Amino acid sequence: MNSSGMKFAFVVWLMWAFSVLVTGGIVTRHTNIKCEIHDQSFAEVKVCRLKVLGRGIIGANVHLHILSLPIKTTLINFSVFKKMSGYHPFLFNITADLCHYMKHPNPSNVFFYFYRALTPYINVNHTCPINYFSKQHDVILKDFVLDDKMFSIVPAPVGSYMFLIKLIANGALRATIYSYLDINVDKP
Ligand SMILES: *[C@@H]1O[C@H](CO)[C@@H](O)[C@H](O)[C@H]1NC(C)=O
Ligand SMILES: *[C@@H]1O[C@H](CO)[C@@H](O)[C@H](O)[C@H]1NC(C)=O
Ligand SMILES: *[C@@H]1O[C@H](CO)[C@@H](O)[C@H](O)[C@H]1NC(C)=O
Repeated sequence: MNSSGMKFAFVVWLMWAFSVLVTGGIVTRHTNIKCEIHDQSFAEVKVCRLKVLGRGIIGANVHLHILSLPIKTTLINFSVFKKMSGYHPFLFNITADLCHYMKHPNPSNVFFYFYRALTPYINVNHTCPINYFSKQHDVILKDFVLDDKMFSIVPAPVGSYMFLIKLIANGALRATIYSYLDINVDKP
């Protein structure tokens, strides 16, 4: 990082620390991530891990190498669980048609808010079908830091959560991603 980049990062960090102190803002943090492939011929997990990017800043990294193309349909089943002696379903259980969503992003669908938080970090921004000619057909999520704003629009009581993301491509369940995070569990 060059010095102006570092200054910028420091200013961002100061602003973040300030907003937490002054507003008692929401502090969210990844605590774990797991990727499970149900069909080895469909995809391979190259990366699935958390990485410490800075003080209290944790990025999620996922790289799925897709082996079976073309992909004509993609459904995401997305559900949220809250930990209370075991994980229990919490508020959200939605299905999104990713191919349709890429063409017609819809702010009235709650999925929009979750996906929008991902967009700066994920390479998937193209429409379907995804085939051999597509420039990028791997799914890469790089250094995804939770956007605290994401939780200012949805009720998010203090606690530990699990996001369960099922990837259903060409009509079958191919992969499941378990993403664990804390909200305001121990504010710095
Ligand atoms: C995904 O959600 C849809 C709609 O709720 C449901 O019909 C389907 O069985 C779910 N698939 C999986 C693999 O959970
Ligand atoms: C979500 O909804 C689908 C279909 O309505 C159901 O099959 C599934 O079990 C639900 N998942 C959770 C976590 O409640
Ligand atoms: C998708 O991402 C690529 C690489 O980041 C970029 O060049 C392209 O313009 C993006 N396309 C859309 C439709 O946003």
